[in-house]
Order: sequence, then C-alpha cells, then structure tokens
Amino acid sequence: MLFPRCDQSPAWAALQAHYETTGRGFDLRKAFAAEPDRFPSWSLQAPEVFADLSKNRIDAVALKLLLQLAEDCGLESQRNAMFAGEAINHTEGRAVLHTALRAPAGAGLHSVEVQESLQRMLAFADGVPAQGFTDVVHIGIGGSDLGPAMVVQALQAYGRPGIKLHFVSNVDGHDLAPVLQALKPATTLFVIASKTFTTQETLANALAAKAWFLAAGGTDIAKHFVATSSNTQAAGTFGITTTFGFWDWVGGRYSLWSVIGLPIAIAVGGENFRNLLAGAHEMDEHFRSAPLAQNLPVLLALIDVWYRNFHGFTSRSVAPYHQGLRRLPAYLQQLEMESNGKGVDREGQVLPYATSPVVWGEAGTNGQHAYFQMLHQGTDVIPVEFIAVKTPRFNASGELLERLNDQHQKLLANCLAQSQALMQGKSVGEALGEKAPTASASLDAQTVARHRSFPGNRPSTSFVLDELSPRSLGALIALYEHRVFVSGALWGINSFDQWGVELGKALCSALLPRIAAGDVAGLDGSTAGLMQRLSR
Ligand code: F6P
Repeated sequence: MLFPRCDQSPAWAALQAHYETTGRGFDLRKAFAAEPDRFPSWSLQAPEVFADLSKNRIDAVALKLLLQLAEDCGLESQRNAMFAGEAINHTEGRAVLHTALRAPAGAGLHSVEVQESLQRMLAFADGVPAQGFTDVVHIGIGGSDLGPAMVVQALQAYGRPGIKLHFVSNVDGHDLAPVLQALKPATTLFVIASKTFTTQETLANALAAKAWFLAAGGTDIAKHFVATSSNTQAAGTFGITTTFGFWDWVGGRYSLWSVIGLPIAIAVGGENFRNLLAGAHEMDEHFRSAPLAQNLPVLLALIDVWYRNFHGFTSRSVAPYHQGLRRLPAYLQQLEMESNGKGVDREGQVLPYATSPVVWGEAGTNGQHAYFQMLHQGTDVIPVEFIAVKTPRFNASGELLERLNDQHQKLLANCLAQSQALMQGKSVGEALGEKAPTASASLDAQTVARHRSFPGNRPSTSFVLDELSPRSLGALIALYEHRVFVSGALWGINSFDQWGVELGKALCSALLPRIAAGDVAGLDGSTAGLMQRLSR
C-alpha cells in the first residue's frame, strides 16, 4: 500500500504559494467583515459535537487545496484500509482496529470476540459493589491509564454510589503510597492494566500493592487482584488468575474502549460504558462516510496541517471549559504526540517537513490566570481549542444548584470572551482611548497603550457539546483519534507505533544496577556526575 507523501502532491506547492500571497497576511477580522456568512459556512454539526471553525486563519482557496492534498495522499483509501483491518501499523505488523471495539454487535471485524469480551468485562464491572469492594485501585501507565482516568473524571456525574476509583501510574512511590494509606485490603480491588504486562512502572506498583495487601492482612489475591492485558501468561505468572484479555490490534493509546476501560465500567456501570462506545461509533460512521469537505476530523486535521506546515505554528493549546475534562489535555498529549511525533516516513526516509505540534492545556478558566497572557500578547501564535458544554449536570439542589447554574453562565461567558479577545485584539489607538490606567508617572500614554494593546488575529476553534455525557464524550474522543489519523496519513507516517519511547527504557534498565553499585565507569560526564549526586 503506497500513497504519495503530502510534499509530493502539486497541492503542497500550491498551498505554499497561497500562503505567501494570502495566508501570511490573512486577517480574521477582515474575513468576518467580508463574509457575513462566515460562521455558518465554517461551522459543522458532527455527531454530538458542534464545531465552529470560523475563527481559523483559513479561506476557501486554502481549504480547496487542502482537500486536494488529502485526495492526492489517498486519504480515503488509507482510512478504508484502517477500517478493513489491514496491517497499517507496518513496523509492528499490526492492524489498527479500535473502531471494531465500538461497533454494534454483529457489525465490524472480530465482532464475536469483541462482544464476548465486552459482556464478560461489563458483567464483572457491574458486580464489583456486590463483591464488597468500596475502592478500586487502577494501576497502569500511558494508554493504560490516561484514557480511563480522564473518562472516569469526566463522567463523575454518572458515577455509581459506593465505589471510589483511584488511579496510580507513576513509578514514583509518592503516587501509590498516599492512595494505599486510606484503604483497607478487605474492601479494595486492584486492577493491573498493562497491554504488554512488561512495563516497569506498572509491575513495580503492582508488586508494591501486593506486598501492602499481604502485610495489611489481605488473604485472597485471586479475588482482590485482576488484570487487563493482552499478555495473559505474564499476568498469570504474577499470580493473577482473572485476566481480561485483548488483542494486538488495539493500540495502547486507543485502548480505553477495550477491557482497559474496566475502571470506567466499574465507575459508571455497563449501560453508560455502552453509551460511550455508541458515541464513538457514531463518530466512526461520520468519519467513514461523510464527504471530506463535511467531515469534521478531516477538516480539523487539514487546518492542523495548514498551521503546522505553512504557518509554522509549533503548538496547539486545548482549553476545555469543563472541570471534568481537566485531564483531556494530558490524554491528548499521548494520543497526538506519541502517534504523530515522528521524523521519518513509512519508508524510513527523514521528513523534510514538521509533524506533530506540541499539544498542551488546562481547564478553563484556570488557564486564563496562568498562561493566557502569552496566548494574547506573546510572540508566538498558538491556536487554541475551546470546548464548551451547554448544560451542566450538578449533583446539587436548592440554592446551591441555582448558584452553580449561575456560575455556569460565567464559565460560558469566559469561554466566549477568550476566543473573541484572541481574534479581536485591541489596537494601540483603542487602548489610548481608554481611561488612563494608573501607571508610573515616568511612562507616557503611548507607552502604556502599547503595553495594553493586543495584536489579535489569533486563531481558535470552538467545540460545543450539549452536555458532557458518556455518548458525547465517546464521540469527542473518537473525533480526536480520527483527526490524528488524518494528519498522520497526510504526513505519510506510521501513527501507530512508538519506537521513540524505547531508547530511554533500555538506558534506564542499564543504569538501574549501576545506581545501586555506584558504578559510573564509561558514562558521559553529566550522567556520571548526576548519578554521584543522587547515589545513596
Ligand atoms: O510509553 C510507551 C507505552 O508503550 C505506551 O504506548 C503505552 O500506552 C504505555 O507504554 C503502557 O504500556 P502497557 O499498557 O503495555 O503497560
């Protein structure tokens, strides 16, 4: 399966030319003045997610060329190859079929195994309270942590009473120790989540948890420890008799839909888990069938490519205006940067163009009081992605509920104001016209106004969800997954391997015995010096 790389398409050169003539000087304020219909023409209702793309520095010509680029790169064939289960993760010889995990029964590849695995996992999850458990400690890292932890937090309003979820990922004992401190073995269930069951951090935490369990009087390891893994054998060697298995065609960072989602199912129950899958499936169908020009993951990725490769923007900030989504940026960091942070194409040739941007962010409004200063007035242009939720879901009543609903209006007003401010900016003249601020007597009005002016024309995308529900969250996550797929497909890279994490792991294994022995022989000066500082 060979597709032309983006830079081999004539559209690539045409986009470069268009950027020079029009893109570089594109002004959002002028675009809105010239196009009264800019909002309806540049917004789209996808399943569960409404997207306003109108505050992006893009015009119809750029979009047409980007769509041409997608066609030239065989985007639709690449997409179909993924859905058809071809081994598109060619460096590991694996299919990429997380979409099969959320297909309805009878549809999608591997349906029989998928449904069997789902039913077994949900039956276990639903029975957890009846087994006397009040606390579930989920131990896993990367894709075996970020997705489940983010979703459980996001769906807190759907949580079942009487069950508390704890997530431990870091090999740093400061992660595990405080969690264990508050628990009793008799009422605690440990879920050890590791696709490979070889990950150092997870195995270390699992062994420590087991030691704590036995020392604190726990007796029934088989009841209190279960695993989610595609390496059932290794889980068995660890002493775990109940393992929920899955397949090598589920990538770690795409695995929350599989048995790795067990803590989600425990937290919110089987029906809500199924709704999460259903929302994702709706987005899969949209991605699979909508024409490219009305296909939200495609449009988002095309704008990403336009920004990264032609505007040269190096990062993208994600601002979810919902406290439940505060771990979304961390989740997206793995999804996007582990998938598309690659420097060679599928044939191993060094790429002459940039790939994944840095993805980062924080829940609104907290981010506003930290780094938004830079977004508004800094020297870098950083596209921002706002996520707003129309209807909140508070577990409250009476006056408290009234107040919280009122706070929600404030939250939404902040969200709208930030994207408005980024776009509108404020000229020096406008700042001069304002009531003079209190400033040092030595500063003249012009100087003060320059400090108080904003360049504006800073792009953003806004997503609106009617509510943050299992279904809408499923759709939102799937939207991001497919968007990452599309930009990776255009860049001609393998978005599904992660060789870049291996070197550090290998060096760590080599350093570990040296630390204990204080052996710095042959190490570079810095590593040797640091090791000596850190040695016990
Ligand atoms: O960090 C590398 C990585 O392999 C991720 O891709 C993966 O999500 C994580 O480690 C955890 O791996 P496992 O589920 O096998 O423990």
